[in-house]
Amino acid sequence: MGQSSDGRAAEGVYNGKIGVSSTMHSDPAWLYLDLLKKSVLGELYSENEVRILYLKSCLAGQESFDQGVFLDVRRKRGALYEEYMRLRETGINYGRTIGNLGFQHTMIGRRRLENIEFCLSEVLAKNVPGDCMECGVWRGGAVIFMRGYLAAHGIEDRIVWVADSFQGVPKPSQEEDAGLDLSAERYPMLAIDLETVRDLFQRYGLLDDRVRFLAGWFKDTLPTAPIEKLALLRLDGDLFESTRDALEALYDRVSPGGFILIDDYGCLPQCRLAVTAFRERRAIAEPIQEVDWTGAFWRKQR
Ligand SMILES: C[S@@+](CC[C@H](N)C(=O)[O-])C[C@H]1O[C@@H](n2cnc3c(N)ncnc32)[C@H](O)[C@@H]1O
Repeated sequence: MGQSSDGRAAEGVYNGKIGVSSTMHSDPAWLYLDLLKKSVLGELYSENEVRILYLKSCLAGQESFDQGVFLDVRRKRGALYEEYMRLRETGINYGRTIGNLGFQHTMIGRRRLENIEFCLSEVLAKNVPGDCMECGVWRGGAVIFMRGYLAAHGIEDRIVWVADSFQGVPKPSQEEDAGLDLSAERYPMLAIDLETVRDLFQRYGLLDDRVRFLAGWFKDTLPTAPIEKLALLRLDGDLFESTRDALEALYDRVSPGGFILIDDYGCLPQCRLAVTAFRERRAIAEPIQEVDWTGAFWRKQR
């Protein structure tokens, strides 16, 4: 089971490569989504980020400014450019990915974005009922992609739910999260306000009544959220508490055949613990599939 000639995965099989193709495409929806992915991932103008790194090192007195380097940074700082692009491919790993400026509209990287694409293609192919949702959206690039995907396929009866505090990750309050302080005080880059996210949806031409914002802490907003059914539920709230609260409130609303995507399964033991505990308690036997160094997902069977 592999990939067909247009780069799409064989039906229903996740191979981590959907959409990746070196062949020229003529399908407008494919072309739009390819451009949308490049845009939310910040791949189109990536030289500018390397230019900023160059300017930073000039300002720090590590080298003197050279207009030729500034204009043609991709060639004249080739090693830096390649390294930077390689790091971006895997998404932002804040704290560890030194020098990654984080101007992208999503920090999840290409493989996890294309995992969303795979799941959405399955949802549409198998008519899995329900909306799409991300809990923990940061600048909103992943949910913008979901809305764009539905628009590109002419889908008008599914909502994209956008849940976030819009003020960053809560301070750790559960024993399981002890020591994991990702709150705005320590990580202001994780706190993106609602206006910024709305504005980005608008810039992409994707803000309409099929995008619904749930602003506040998950424990307060999710249990009473007016969501009936979900076909795709993506969790990216980092903490044990955030992952647990989202699973508790929303898992039963995921339709059979729907997907649960966990962003921090590999990189944050706190998140993994919340998933493992929930799955054990609910006797969930569907296997978890790896997406990349941190992302994972499973498909709900019943
Ligand atoms: C790592 S970022 C999400 C990245 C995003 N999915 C993307 O595509 O780039 C984590 C987000 O989760 C939100 N968050 C974490 N825990 C939360 C909670 N308990 N309630 C509300 N928002 C939360 C933060 O505000 C932040 O925007």
